[in-house]
Amino acid sequence: MTDTATTSPAAAELTFAVTKNLAAKSAAQREEILQNPGFGTSFTDHMVDVCWSEKGGWHRPRVQPYGPIPLDPAAAVLHYGQEIFEGIKAYRHADGSIHTFRPDRNAARLQKSARRLALPELPTAYFLQSLRALIAVDGDWVPSGADQSLYLRPFMFAKEAFLGVRPAKKVAFYVIASPAGAYFTGGIKPVRIWLSESYARAGKGGTGAAKTGGNYASSLLPQSEAYEKGCDQVVFLDADRNVEELGGMNVVFVFKDGRVVTPESDSILEGITRDSLLQLAEDRGLTVERRAVSLEEWRQGVASGDIVEVFACGTAAVVTPIGALVSEDFEDEQPLGDLALSLREELTDIQYGRREDKHGWLVRLDS
Ligand code: PLP
Ligand code: COI
Repeated sequence: MTDTATTSPAAAELTFAVTKNLAAKSAAQREEILQNPGFGTSFTDHMVDVCWSEKGGWHRPRVQPYGPIPLDPAAAVLHYGQEIFEGIKAYRHADGSIHTFRPDRNAARLQKSARRLALPELPTAYFLQSLRALIAVDGDWVPSGADQSLYLRPFMFAKEAFLGVRPAKKVAFYVIASPAGAYFTGGIKPVRIWLSESYARAGKGGTGAAKTGGNYASSLLPQSEAYEKGCDQVVFLDADRNVEELGGMNVVFVFKDGRVVTPESDSILEGITRDSLLQLAEDRGLTVERRAVSLEEWRQGVASGDIVEVFACGTAAVVTPIGALVSEDFEDEQPLGDLALSLREELTDIQYGRREDKHGWLVRLDS
């Protein structure tokens, strides 16, 4: 058993104690899952966990068989939702090597989420080492089919058994992994978006910019409403009727004059996919604007023809054109253009190693 305790954020390597899963899936069982992985339903044979305590800092890094987490019924996360997570993918290149995309950004966002949720910040080096430790045992789970990847889900929660309302003094960090195909069943087809008028996702000073479970919990009811109305996703507005984002994706508007515009506010999750697509748009000479976009501007822009394309983007769904905006009072068909799919192709070409990685976004995980 190897235990490495440290409190220093600049600390060196974590040394993971590895316990192999004796009931791991056979190669044949794994291949069957990888043929058609879906999204978020199958998991690899192992998981990573690292403990944190107020006294001991980050300690006891482990790779263990994937399975249930022992949790005291009084664990603070179960009562007060002190929890954060990330979503990042591992891609298999044609030569068999395994790479991930801008993990420093996910590590930094996890740190930002941690600050907002009063959780400890996991050093960027530990974040990356955790992904590598999991890939070292479960690398065979990274699929090689078109548009397939291994979705990595790092998450952190308050595990201290204490019902007082204060930041927990004992925390756990885990990484699990799930082979992934398309997020939306049916592949890349324009999605219908339900405009949530009765429910908000976030408020000023709230947790909208953090990746924390509560934001997703509060999106489930409006998301169910969206399904009832025949829509795939829900879009949220802020108190000033500015567009925020979808339940699990950012929104981007393309204007006739070549401007590419995305909502910016302190209640929106800063998407890494969005940031990368906007960089690629800038590289093509397009003008990128990060600013408030009102519902009014969206609807009028589509009606006048000034807005020529609207798309959603995120790690899980990559890039998805928006085909309709639907509310209790109206249904606006959205114009479809070429930019969303062309940017999607450029981004995925970089991620899968088919095109030069000019910005140095890829990080190899299997060596
Ligand atoms: N907004 C929300 C609410 C999300 O859950 C996600 C997905 O992670 C995004 C935006 C897009 O972020 P990213 O591109 O970093 O995955
Ligand atoms: C992601 O794209 O990584 C997300 O977290 C979106 C959703 C699966 C919650």
